[in-house]
Amino acid sequence: MQEIFLRLAMNWQKSLKGKFRTREFLKEHTTFKIGGPAKIFFEPRDIKDLRLSLSLVKKNRIPILVIGAGSNILVNDDGFKGMVLRLNTPSFKKIVLKHNCLEAGSGVLLSQVVLKAKGLGLSGAEFLSGIPGTVGGALIMNAGIREKNIADLVEDVKVMDYNGNIKILNKNNIKFKYRSSNLSQYIILSARLKLRKKDPRKIKEKIKKYFVYRKLTHDLSKPSAGCVFKNPTGYSAGRLIDLCGLKGKRIGDASISFKHANFIVNIGNARAKDVLKLMSLIRREVKKKFNISLKPEIKIWK
Ligand code: EPU
Repeated sequence: MQEIFLRLAMNWQKSLKGKFRTREFLKEHTTFKIGGPAKIFFEPRDIKDLRLSLSLVKKNRIPILVIGAGSNILVNDDGFKGMVLRLNTPSFKKIVLKHNCLEAGSGVLLSQVVLKAKGLGLSGAEFLSGIPGTVGGALIMNAGIREKNIADLVEDVKVMDYNGNIKILNKNNIKFKYRSSNLSQYIILSARLKLRKKDPRKIKEKIKKYFVYRKLTHDLSKPSAGCVFKNPTGYSAGRLIDLCGLKGKRIGDASISFKHANFIVNIGNARAKDVLKLMSLIRREVKKKFNISLKPEIKIWK
């Protein structure tokens, strides 16, 4: 199996223009700092290169996954026996003002969206301040805070399907839910975000407010994937876990944060299996005490 991959990789490298690596450790690409190797890790140079890589994996029946900033995933310790795609080259990281909308490539970081909007005196994106992630990843999971999600800004999204066809999906044709969307069937290329003019001083103040709140309440001191579970309707998962007395509970090097109980932090060399065990324990305890079933917010790459 390994040999087949290596042979394919050698051949593909001749035709693909982007950055191509084999046996790339995904822990280098996740904020959790957890994850075994991907057989192939590819960063296409442009749309044409992306399309070609899709046709190659399809022809050879190789599974494929897309990674953004790796801020909301837990990758298996055995890694991924396929191709991991990351849209991280300049062609996917453009951010421009177009017809009153900010058009941002899939690989643009949310922090860059916040900065660009601030520079242009545009308001609406301030709440994204401090959320780790790329535009592509944030759209797939409808990232946000308690009262707002990125879906609230979306005008339309440019996507490629896994056959290489490009489509523009209007916001009315996208199904966004709390921390999920139906966009995962596509590869996101870019999105147009609708913002509005505002006094730059007010924008700056708002950004600061969100940033300070996050710094005060979230555990940013150690590698993590942010909130692990979704908030059940009407509750805060963090509060429920806290009330079970689980803060500081540790399995291997995975530990429930002392600062925010919905954060599992990697305090050294945590493995995915430690995090999964801790997640099971949390679900069990919260179910026992409150009869509530917590659902993971993070995506688990098995
Ligand atoms: N709380 C506790 N103990 C804890 C954690 C929280 O009692 O260990 C209490 C807080 O004191 C507060 C309430 O629970 O009264 C809510 O806490 P917080 O404001 O931190 O918000 P959250 O509901 O836990 C959500 C999002 C966060 C987002 C914040 C801020 C989810 C699952 N989480 O957290 O998003 O940053 O609101 O708006 O929707 C993420 O998605 O990764 C994430 C961190």
